[in-house]
Amino acid sequence: MSELKLTPKTSGIIGEIEVPGDKSISHRAIILGSLAKGKTKIRHFLNGEDCLRTVDAFRAMGVTIEQDGETIIINSEGADALEEPIIPLNFGNSGTTTRLMIGLLAGLPFFTTIFGDASLSKRPMDRVVNPLVEMNAAFTGREEGRLLPIAIEGQQLKGIDYILPVKSAQVKSAILLAGLFAEGKTKITEKTKTRNHTETMLGAFGADINVDGNTVSISNKQPLSATDFYVPGDISSAAFFLAGAAAKSNSHLVLKNVGLNPTRTGILDVLIEMGANLTIHNEKKVGGEIFGDITIQSGDLQAIEISGDIIPRLIDEIPIIALLATQASGKTIIRDAEELRVKETDRIAAVADVLSTLGANVTPTDDGLIIEGKTKLTGGKIKSYNDHRIAMMGAIASVFSDEEIIIDDISSVAISYPNFFTDFENITARN
Ligand code: S3P
Repeated sequence: MSELKLTPKTSGIIGEIEVPGDKSISHRAIILGSLAKGKTKIRHFLNGEDCLRTVDAFRAMGVTIEQDGETIIINSEGADALEEPIIPLNFGNSGTTTRLMIGLLAGLPFFTTIFGDASLSKRPMDRVVNPLVEMNAAFTGREEGRLLPIAIEGQQLKGIDYILPVKSAQVKSAILLAGLFAEGKTKITEKTKTRNHTETMLGAFGADINVDGNTVSISNKQPLSATDFYVPGDISSAAFFLAGAAAKSNSHLVLKNVGLNPTRTGILDVLIEMGANLTIHNEKKVGGEIFGDITIQSGDLQAIEISGDIIPRLIDEIPIIALLATQASGKTIIRDAEELRVKETDRIAAVADVLSTLGANVTPTDDGLIIEGKTKLTGGKIKSYNDHRIAMMGAIASVFSDEEIIIDDISSVAISYPNFFTDFENITARN
């Protein structure tokens, strides 16, 4: 346990920072770079615990992966040369590693066992196991493969035509990776569009992939080709400081090179609708991913309603949006976010608990939260639930309180933002 005491921050959030590389894109860069024959260089890789689980998995399958800080060099003999790992693969806390690797391993010609920490071992895997079984995959696992640990006996897979029953990019990605090794075509349709990094990056690595609205199809016709890749800053990490600066008076913050893929920018739409003072500049596009700089200044925020198709575009940002809502005038209602119940922790319950401990007016619902603002937060001792995004939300809360906030354990922050507290101190240093 690594407890942290945060003193109140009285003046604004001021400065310029570059947040670490995007977590979703970093995982995929390692996976696709390891499947492609040749040398792949990845710049601005997220050196966080989750992405390092994905690196370890491919090292265990014989891929040479060298790391120098945020630069990764992969030398791979291609997918055909991947070797059976001799010991079980430990995926720690990483849902993305687990779900994507289940899809990939299902079609590779060897046996693998995978497991994770207590949180990951409670998260549903049937959402990937079920469609993959339809593709001829063979799994054995706790509760009939619903939960880790799971053993995977690689099979010759066959293509599938699948309508996603859950709003999950991890499920879509698992099926696409399986489709790379399946006979025939694999087609996936989603009712609500989720993050599209897998399809965009598969295209950049030369896969035979086609996107038509909310339908993606892939066939196994050609091997992937190695390509260099730049990982934009993670908008889900930037969101914590964006929210802090939007609501804290006298703030002026610039966030450099933040990923602006439209399937991820729901947080920007929300900030603008709430009345935040935000501009985007220096937009660039590399490897199919857009990124740019965001400048944000404090403004008077109003409550809004958040539901429907925007939810997957901001699913990981809901904890920090809930905190933001405590600083907005009126009643913010968040609906259709039932997926939060099966994240690293039950984030609806965790957010409601933490914000109520700090004196906010918050009500959890089955699929979201109702928050009434504006509230001056109190101090108190809060739980992080061993969830990185809950810990970072708790830290930003200290900007809106005149009393000390103690977070019981901040070690989980290393999952997605190892330097979070250094950056946080730098931009609140005048306090
Ligand atoms: C992710 C997809 C989302 C997100 C997670 C990363 C990904 O999960 O919450 O942090 O990289 O594909 P779901 O697919 O479960 O919605």
